[in-house]
Amino acid sequence: MIIAVDGPTASGKGTIAKALAAHFGLPHLDTGLLYRAVGRQVFLDGGDPDNGGDALAGCAFPDTLLNDPQLRDEETGGLASRVSVHPPVRQALFDRQRKFAEQAGGAVLDGRDIGTVIAPEAEAKLFVTASVEARAQRRFLEMRERGAGVTLLEIQDDLRRRDERDRSRAVAPLVPAEDAMVIDTSALDRDEAISAAIEAVKQAT
Ligand code: C5P
Repeated sequence: MIIAVDGPTASGKGTIAKALAAHFGLPHLDTGLLYRAVGRQVFLDGGDPDNGGDALAGCAFPDTLLNDPQLRDEETGGLASRVSVHPPVRQALFDRQRKFAEQAGGAVLDGRDIGTVIAPEAEAKLFVTASVEARAQRRFLEMRERGAGVTLLEIQDDLRRRDERDRSRAVAPLVPAEDAMVIDTSALDRDEAISAAIEAVKQAT
């Protein structure tokens, strides 16, 4: 069973994907981490994330980079969003994601194009979303806990910019698959969102 979980930044899709993996006993891949590693590698190489050649070179990142705590930073998220518009970068990461999806027994993958491009055959497809305000508020609290000095407004602006870039790119834009079940988490707490997702998967399979 493949479960595809797509949605914008800070929608709760990562939390939901992890919980689904635990509930159904499946391995989980956070595909955003792969794009973040590419963005981080380009930065470490002194390259330009908007340059397709530099971005493709970043795809040769070492596996150890996936454990770098800086991958979770907002800054790296922005770099990831910039490198992810280049089709050769998406192609380079395609095989890696497919291989994970094809594991015996199944997998949960979360990202932006899992249900549309990476695993269109997935048995269950969720599109997790929430208002910009709700997502910014969550990200703000998370960042404050980590001691980061950013304002709510800065986070909202950054989310809007990233949403726009992810939705408008020519290749694999962020759109729900036609057969995806949409879960709006704006008014749900963590447990409610997880329950809704488990129910949706049960219904689909
Ligand atoms: O999900 P996360 O915020 O970690 O993703 C970082 C960026 O990587 C996203 O803003 C998006 O541009 C890109 N991404 C993507 N396709 C995916 C996962 C992430 O384009 N499957």
